[in-house]
Amino acid sequence: MYTFPTYQDLKGKVALVMGIGQTNVPGSKIWGNGAAMARALCSNGVKVFGCDLNLQAAEYTASRLQDEGRICDVTTADVTSSTDVKRVVEEVMAKHGRIDILVNNVGMTAAGDPASMSEAVWDVQLNLNLKSVYQSCHFVLPIMEKQGSGTIINNASIAGVSYLGKPQIAYSAAKAAVIHFTKVTAVMYALKGVRLNCVVPGMIYTPLVENLGRSEKEEDREVFRKITEHNVPIGRMGEPEDIANAALFLASDAAKYITGQPLIVDGGLTSQTGTGQ
Ligand SMILES: NC(=O)c1ccc[n+]([C@@H]2O[C@H](COP(=O)([O-])OP(=O)(O)OC[C@H]3O[C@@H](n4cnc5c(N)ncnc54)[C@H](O)[C@@H]3O)[C@@H](O)[C@H]2O)c1
Repeated sequence: MYTFPTYQDLKGKVALVMGIGQTNVPGSKIWGNGAAMARALCSNGVKVFGCDLNLQAAEYTASRLQDEGRICDVTTADVTSSTDVKRVVEEVMAKHGRIDILVNNVGMTAAGDPASMSEAVWDVQLNLNLKSVYQSCHFVLPIMEKQGSGTIINNASIAGVSYLGKPQIAYSAAKAAVIHFTKVTAVMYALKGVRLNCVVPGMIYTPLVENLGRSEKEEDREVFRKITEHNVPIGRMGEPEDIANAALFLASDAAKYITGQPLIVDGGLTSQTGTGQ
């Protein structure tokens, strides 16, 4: 079993994880980013409540956690629906009476540059990757403000920082906006005891990537090759546990003087010029 670091202050806290499932269930032996973050929180004694559009995927995470002796509640919800998000927040409040940690993990890309991408795809991408973050913050921030404490971790992407060699304009723009949303909201809530930060993953080998390699479509396998034949300075792709470790740190009191920050977890990828080491 993977051993996460322990932060004593996290014990007994309540976390809501949006997008607790993963691609490729049941079956994948690796963890999605949201599932790994839930696992890290559970291993620290956090009471985790998670939701996902795909209930089977959420239940898969819950059952794997149960196999490790952890308990987490899951439900189905579409993070682009304010009705769903409101309901989930109310369910957590009914069960635990508070929300100490909010993780916004849902995100997905679609290919295209501004000329080739349709308006419909652009709208779906912005709703899924950006509006979803506003939506959960809209319902959770007033709760955290009332508590006088809370921390929010938004999962962005290095696509929101740099061009990654494949056009994904809406995803890139939305993830950049998530980083800025986090920065400015963090300032607005700094005196209210609420911290907001981003984890900014680089190339992470999650079940989503694993699935691309197994796809029958040649274009998926081409994307898989592009992702896995990387030039990451550290010499490997990241693992979901690398993202979970960063999120765990940001959620804990070890990061109590850190707010509004993007924590880039990319093995040095965005720090290089492309001219080699
Ligand atoms: N895998 C990478 O290399 C990578 C890199 C950078 C950033 N990220 C970010 O990490 C996050 C998770 O990525 P992953 O690779 O683990 O993906 P994943 O697809 O395995 O997990 C995402 C989960 O979100 C759920 N979901 C999708 N739409 C939803 C909706 N409308 N409402 C509720 N749940 C919904 C899916 O069912 C799935 O369980 C995303 O925000 C992604 O942008 C991933």
